[in-house]
Amino acid sequence: MRLLFFAGSAREGSHNKKLARLGQKVAEANGIEAVYVDLADYYMPIYHGDLEASEGVPERAQAFQALLGEYDGVMIVTPEYNAGIPALLKNTLDWVSRVRTEPDVFRSRVFAIAGTSPGYFGAMRSLLQLREVLAVGLGATVIPQQMALPGAMKAFAEDGSLVDEMRQKTFTGVVEALAVAARKFAA
Ligand SMILES: Cc1cc2nc3c(=O)[nH]c(=O)nc-3n(C[C@H](O)[C@H](O)[C@H](O)COP(=O)(O)O)c2cc1C
Repeated sequence: MRLLFFAGSAREGSHNKKLARLGQKVAEANGIEAVYVDLADYYMPIYHGDLEASEGVPERAQAFQALLGEYDGVMIVTPEYNAGIPALLKNTLDWVSRVRTEPDVFRSRVFAIAGTSPGYFGAMRSLLQLREVLAVGLGATVIPQQMALPGAMKAFAEDGSLVDEMRQKTFTGVVEALAVAARKFAA
C-alpha cells in the first residue's frame, strides 16, 4: 500500500506544500511507503477544448494521471483562493479527468483532503469545494476525516511539524485514516 501527497500550490514557500510534506513524513514514520510530489513539476496550460482537440491531453497531464495510478491513497493539500479551489488544482484535475483509462484513476483509489491558510478558516471553504469536485464530479471516494489548518504563518515548527500538539495529532489521524481506507480499497 502506497500513499501520494501533493499540494495545490506551485509556490516555492507554500504553506500547503509544507503540510503535504509533513503528511508524507507522518506516513513514513508509521511504516507506510509515501511519496511527495510538487505540482510545479507538472505545470500545464489552462484547459481549452480546442487545444485538446488539436493536440490531445498534454504530456504532463498524462504523466500526472499515470503517477496517481501508482498509489492506493492520495492526499491533496489545497490553498484557498477567494473562498474556493485554486485554478492550478482545478486545472490539474480537469486535464487528468480527460485521460481515459480502465479502471478510472479517480474511482479506483481513496482520497483525503487537507488545507491551510494564514487566515482564520484554514482553507475550509476550499476543502468543501474540493470534496464536491472529487466525490460528485470525479466519482472518487474521499474519507470523511480532513484537516483545515488556520494561522499557517505560525503553524509550523522548524522541523516541519505542527506547533500545536492537538493539531499535529489531528493531522496524523487524517493520514492514518487515509492509510486504513487505502488498504481496504486496495484489498
Ligand atoms: C488570489 C488569492 C486569493 C486568496 N483568497 C483567500 C481566501 O479566500 N481565503 C484564505 O484563507 N486565503 C486566501 N488567500 C491567501 C492564501 O491563503 C495564501 O496566499 C496562502 O499562503 C496560499 O497558499 P500557499 O502558501 O500554499 O501558496 C488568497 C490568496 C490569493 C493569491
